[in-house]
Amino acid sequence: MQRKRWRLAPTVLIAAGSLVLAGCGGESKPRSTGTTGAAASKVEVFSWWTGGGEAKGLDAMVADFKKKHANIEFVNAAVAGGSGTNAKAVLASRLQAQQPPDSFQGHAGAELQDYIKAGQLEELDSFYDQNQLRSVFPQQLVDQITFEGHVYSVPVNIHRSNVLWYSPQVLKEAGISAPPATIDEFIADLQQVKQKTKKIPLSLGAQWTADHLWESVMLASLGVDGYNALWKSGADWGGQNVTTALQKFAEILKYTNTEAASTDWQLAAKDVVDGKAAFNIMGDWAAGYFKELGKQPETDYKWAASPGTDGVYMWLSDSFTLPKGAKHRDAAVEWLKECASKEGQDLFNPQKGSIPARKDADTSLYKDYLAWALEQWKTNKLAGSMWHGVTANNQWHTDIDTAVGLFLRSKDVGKFQKALVDAAENDAG
Ligand code: GAL
Repeated sequence: MQRKRWRLAPTVLIAAGSLVLAGCGGESKPRSTGTTGAAASKVEVFSWWTGGGEAKGLDAMVADFKKKHANIEFVNAAVAGGSGTNAKAVLASRLQAQQPPDSFQGHAGAELQDYIKAGQLEELDSFYDQNQLRSVFPQQLVDQITFEGHVYSVPVNIHRSNVLWYSPQVLKEAGISAPPATIDEFIADLQQVKQKTKKIPLSLGAQWTADHLWESVMLASLGVDGYNALWKSGADWGGQNVTTALQKFAEILKYTNTEAASTDWQLAAKDVVDGKAAFNIMGDWAAGYFKELGKQPETDYKWAASPGTDGVYMWLSDSFTLPKGAKHRDAAVEWLKECASKEGQDLFNPQKGSIPARKDADTSLYKDYLAWALEQWKTNKLAGSMWHGVTANNQWHTDIDTAVGLFLRSKDVGKFQKALVDAAENDAG
């Protein structure tokens, strides 16, 4: 069997070679999608939504923006790569060089706080007041985009990280009648798929998808309070509870496929809807992708909370910013209005596979998986996603990624835990 070639520290590697991006699928040259004729202004919007499901969500919101602003040329500066592994490095160089895009996507929570603390973002207090936005988002979300009393970004959605996608056909073939409710049941099911079918028990792609899997396993094994406690300063990463979680993670990894680590999340998720894999743990952007593929919920795929995390919403939120020094500030403000609007959010989210950040969205537009997600959001306890920017700042995130990368090669739980202890000591803010 071909071994996975795991990358060690993708962000660092890409940062050092961002010029190479154009040649490897990254889009370093902005695509102009403006209306023809002379545009009075333009707005350059930076994200990583180029791929299946993601670009479609963005396009839906952009189309509405263009309808309202025929005189503003929309420049799509998206850089390919799931979860922003490439984009964030390109963004860092642009911010460093004081060449910011007019608005960029970032994650609510610790990730955006890095940019705020570095003085790279304008605060949006008066924007919020003028557009009466203070009460349209849930308070816990507003808290995550507020720093020292000022609010700094506009959240477009709420995504869920801890989702188990599964193939009803493959589970049937393996003789599994219901999705696993605990990590131990999950491991038993993975083993059963391996023994009884020729299908991939758990599909996995690029290294970041292992980071993503890891946070779901940590949440399940530690419980919501234990998981949330890890991200507070002075947390104990050296305890037996963490060792046990890492051992479970190691066990689960034995049942993943061995595709090249260059496979992004889409292809790994597609294995499930194509009936090639039993399970995939991925955020609910997968729902947007499956929709784009024309796959049928309940028939081609089903979903559940990732094993052992029922009742907990591991959340994250894509949020747009106004960088200091934006060349087209007025147009950027118009873009932020679009992101904040009910119409914009209701066009974007059903395609993207996320629920709206606004509390007053038209819930009839959110069907199948998304109807389930809206219900869960109302009742679940909350845990912040590490990989998608809520709980760990950018340095901590990179150090955890490096630790995961080394572990994928060594499978040494002791060293992995030590690296996590060190990362928490060095980076917890
Ligand atoms: C997340 C992002 C989502 C989605 C996903 C996969 O970090 O918040 O919107 O794009 O990455 O690329």
